Amino acid sequence: PAAFSFHGTHQAGVLAPVRRSTALLALDVTAQGVDGLKALLQTITERLRFLTAGGTPQELGITAAPSDSGVLGPEVVAGGLTATLAVGASLFDERFGLASVKPAKLRTMEDFPNDDLDRSICDGDLLLQFEADDNDVVVHAVREVLRATRAGMQLRWRQDGFASPPRPSGTPRNLMGFKDGTANPDRTDAKLMDQLVWVHGGARGEPAWAAGGSYLAVRKIRMLVEFWDRVGIEEQQQMFGRYKGNGAPLTGSAEHDDPHYERDPNGDSIPLSAHIRVANPRTPGTEDQRMLRRAFNYDGGVDANGNLDQGLVFTAFNQDLERQFVTVQKRLIDEPLVDYISPVGGGYFFAVPGAKNSSDWLGKGLF
Ligand code: HEM
Repeated sequence: PAAFSFHGTHQAGVLAPVRRSTALLALDVTAQGVDGLKALLQTITERLRFLTAGGTPQELGITAAPSDSGVLGPEVVAGGLTATLAVGASLFDERFGLASVKPAKLRTMEDFPNDDLDRSICDGDLLLQFEADDNDVVVHAVREVLRATRAGMQLRWRQDGFASPPRPSGTPRNLMGFKDGTANPDRTDAKLMDQLVWVHGGARGEPAWAAGGSYLAVRKIRMLVEFWDRVGIEEQQQMFGRYKGNGAPLTGSAEHDDPHYERDPNGDSIPLSAHIRVANPRTPGTEDQRMLRRAFNYDGGVDANGNLDQGLVFTAFNQDLERQFVTVQKRLIDEPLVDYISPVGGGYFFAVPGAKNSSDWLGKGLF
């Protein structure tokens, strides 16, 4: 749509389909005390409400600096923008006295084996994810939110990403050339989203305010593309368990065919070590480990050694970080793909419930 509705039980960006352009901003709060933090969250909400709806920026007269950068022209277009606000574990330290309302599973992201984390691009008090189909809409939103909140928070790290259009059809492709997101749970199935994405307040030790929110795992995963591009197609496909061309499982013929793990009558099979098989064994009791992945590509230019810096901005929403993301990530330790990837950054966050109406604000339930 041209504009996603800002108000609701949930933030619109969680279930929205992946858009072409994104920016993830991790921020540290510099506002002082509870009142400072409340004022910051109110300002963020007010800006997001305006930017996601679009409209005419406030007129401040000809001598003052304009209230809007003008990057989108005199009239701000909504441009299909979504903005998702999430909180990190460090927000619940001694500064604001919020320890007792911390989402039960929220914590600093650990190092997994094979990780090569640069801690300067991990974690943060807040995470803001902007998404739209056009880069200028994302860049404009980044700029307008930061200029309105300069006194209350500072940028810790930023990661931009993009998604491909259908190539030639179906799910967007990652920079290894494979369709990424095919087997996601159906986001239009409200009952399933209640089991896999949304936190229920009061349940599983979660504070009441967290109802309608969701855990967001972010991983910046570099792809060693120079090595990858030397691997034969057959081996690439065995590594994922899917065909590169159309994304079908190696036991099927169309992208959305269900993979089956027993050898099928014509002798096709999916290796035990294949990424999809390890990530989702499809055995009884593992159904509730599924998560809602929203993958983006990044292109960071070139590193100090002259190698291409490209990869995946992996993001996934979870009802329970441990039961879903952490369990699956642990199972993926030492999968064959690890020779071609290197996780370098990210963090765990909790996407707060939506702002219900024009007098509500994101994070209000924390206080
Ligand atoms: C599936 C790529 C990292 C979890 C897939 C698929 C591809 C892929 C091509 C098959 C298509 C699909 O269903 O989306 C990658 C690449 C990664 C990566 C290139 C790193 C650079 C991860 C991580 C996790 C993960 C870190 C979670 C810890 C999953 C899951 C599935 C999946 C749950 C769906 C399996 C299914 O239900 O069939 N991935 N992935 N992936 N991946 Fe990854």
